[in-house]
Amino acid sequence: MFFRKKEAETAPSAAAGTGAGAAPGTAHVSMIVNGKSVSAEVDARTLLVQFVRENLRLTGTHVGCDTSQCGACVVHVDGRATKSCTVLAATCDGAKVTTIEGLAHDGKLHPMQEAFREHHGLQCGFCTPGMIMAAVDIVNRKGGGVDETTIRHELEGNICRCTGYHNIVAAIRAGASAMGATRQAAE
Ligand code: FES
Ligand code: FES
Repeated sequence: MFFRKKEAETAPSAAAGTGAGAAPGTAHVSMIVNGKSVSAEVDARTLLVQFVRENLRLTGTHVGCDTSQCGACVVHVDGRATKSCTVLAATCDGAKVTTIEGLAHDGKLHPMQEAFREHHGLQCGFCTPGMIMAAVDIVNRKGGGVDETTIRHELEGNICRCTGYHNIVAAIRAGASAMGATRQAAE
């Protein structure tokens, strides 16, 4: 894109390009996603959710609202649950990102995914990837014995239009306990 000198001088910093050799208005981003190194030059305004879905084709992360309300887009950034519609890909440069596709290992579902399946914690499934990523983060922070009241409080940022939450909470309690048992076995 061509900038007249005056516009370029007054344009926001992102317009000057971010990262070594980035063209004006673009940013070079490198991150580890689901254990793999990825990098790309993207529009500096690219959201993390767009980067994950459109550049990497990891479409398990959903977009429900685009306004930080629903939690369908939750991924983990450096181990913390993050609404990927609220952060720029460029601000995650150098981060480790895990999406729903990164939870299963060696063809085996993560204990939280297994618990959602066992306890029917979904109907249409649209909210499910974000719910599961949020749930894993809850257990990572609150432990395998996390109680129902805490789970309901922590799920405040995740909306489900189908289930009425009862089975989701039951699934998270079971998944928490399975994650706790897996950790104890590993210690
Ligand atoms: Fe990110 Fe709804 S799409 S919170
Ligand atoms: Fe349909 Fe949650 S299962 S929105």
